[in-house]
Amino acid sequence: MSASKKTLRLPRKKAAPTPHEERVRSGARAARAQSQNRRRQRPVEPRQTATPSASHQAIVKTSPQRIAPKPSEKKQGPAAQALPFAAFAPCPRGLEEMLARELKQLGFTDVTPGRAGCHFQADWRDILRANLYSRIATRILVQLAQAPVRTPEDIYALALDTEWEKWFGARHSLRVDTSAVGSPMQSLQYCNLRVKDAICDRIRAREGARPDVDTVRPDARVHLFLDANSATLYLDSSGESLFKRGWRYQKGAAPLRENLAAGLLALADWSPEYPLVDPFCGSGTILIEAAWIALNAPPGLHRPFQFERLRNHNPRIWHQIKDQARSQIRPTLETLLIGADTDSAALDLARQNLQQAKLAPDNIQFQVANALELLPPEGRPGWVVTNPPYGERLGAQDSSFWSDWSAQLKTHYDGWSVNVISSELGLPGHLRLSPDRRFPVFNGALDCRLFQFQIHGRRTEPNGAGATSEP
Ligand SMILES: C[S@@+](CC[C@H](N)C(=O)[O-])C[C@H]1O[C@@H](n2cnc3c(N)ncnc32)[C@H](O)[C@@H]1O
Repeated sequence: MSASKKTLRLPRKKAAPTPHEERVRSGARAARAQSQNRRRQRPVEPRQTATPSASHQAIVKTSPQRIAPKPSEKKQGPAAQALPFAAFAPCPRGLEEMLARELKQLGFTDVTPGRAGCHFQADWRDILRANLYSRIATRILVQLAQAPVRTPEDIYALALDTEWEKWFGARHSLRVDTSAVGSPMQSLQYCNLRVKDAICDRIRAREGARPDVDTVRPDARVHLFLDANSATLYLDSSGESLFKRGWRYQKGAAPLRENLAAGLLALADWSPEYPLVDPFCGSGTILIEAAWIALNAPPGLHRPFQFERLRNHNPRIWHQIKDQARSQIRPTLETLLIGADTDSAALDLARQNLQQAKLAPDNIQFQVANALELLPPEGRPGWVVTNPPYGERLGAQDSSFWSDWSAQLKTHYDGWSVNVISSELGLPGHLRLSPDRRFPVFNGALDCRLFQFQIHGRRTEPNGAGATSEP
């Protein structure tokens, strides 16, 4: 640990700024931010702890992350280069296949679903596109190095040998995060520190000063991922998680994350030609996500990204990509989207969110209504995709709630596909419906299922008598 303390005390030397760095760091506010950054300097904290250590093994650095550039693009700066990178897009567990499908539809190659995410190949322009367009990814990580490691010193050597200066330098601030699955390292915090030390040592050797550490609003974010015998170093191109689309200012009670909502719509196989009803809509996440899908509006259009703070970010290319995305947004929303909730405060929030999401007030029909009484719109059957209250959140509602809702569905939602995410794994039993499909999916740390029921209802006869249903 002494090595890391020493690194933190190293005097800061001035490095010659690049024109871009001067722009991002000029002005009184920037000076204040820099002095705050210097005060804030402290080692960053890892997210997990690891299992006990193993013996040393020499590093063999692998570089699967780079492939030869196209001749026409060799002269551009790194951020504009067409070098393909190995990228990893984490996502909520259970959505890996849906994310892989989405990335393939976006034109990415070598897409392989992994644990809680997808690997794919992308040049830098594609990295920007993935950030802008992916509805399901949580972030886009660019792999810069990978090697077998056995000790923290191996990790230091790997980080020291990585060309960070292509992405950021002495005038940028830095944050390092570490996560691990089955790593033998004794302290992830120490591994994290060694990465930070190596990056700072490398940049100081090249530029005469080291980057500051800023855990709150860093210019560059680096992720160290450790598994049983290797380390991977990623540059985080996203920054704030991609489920933060930039429209949610206040959280309602237990809102779904936006990328989970998009993933549920994908798992449910909803498409915008069909009406969509969320009878427990809360702050409207599922329906707002559906509206953006129907409008072909890219989810990242109204938020900043980490890559915009990196050295040699090319704003011209980024604006081109965004302009192209804007030109593909449909002018009108044809899809019928209906949300209901018993809580009028939740619906006020949903309407605010609708406005913040740059949707028209009539794009989604919100109404205060009890799901037990909510009727579907007239016309062709559609989809229900919903996230009803879990367990104790059902509050005072009585035990017949699920069978009453089920009766409502069977009576009025004939032909509808009803998709319910719940951590209540016995939900089909409570509904007395057997699901056609059940998809394991995580809502944060909560182990859930998306249950899909195809309703073959009993029709209400003119005299009020119902006939059949129930698989
Ligand atoms: C888990 S929250 C839904 C959160 C929502 N998916 C979001 O992202 O904001 C469940 C919602 O169901 C509503 N609710 C509870 N009982 C209801 C009922 N009988 N009919 C309609 N809504 C109900 C609650 O007010 C709450 O807003």
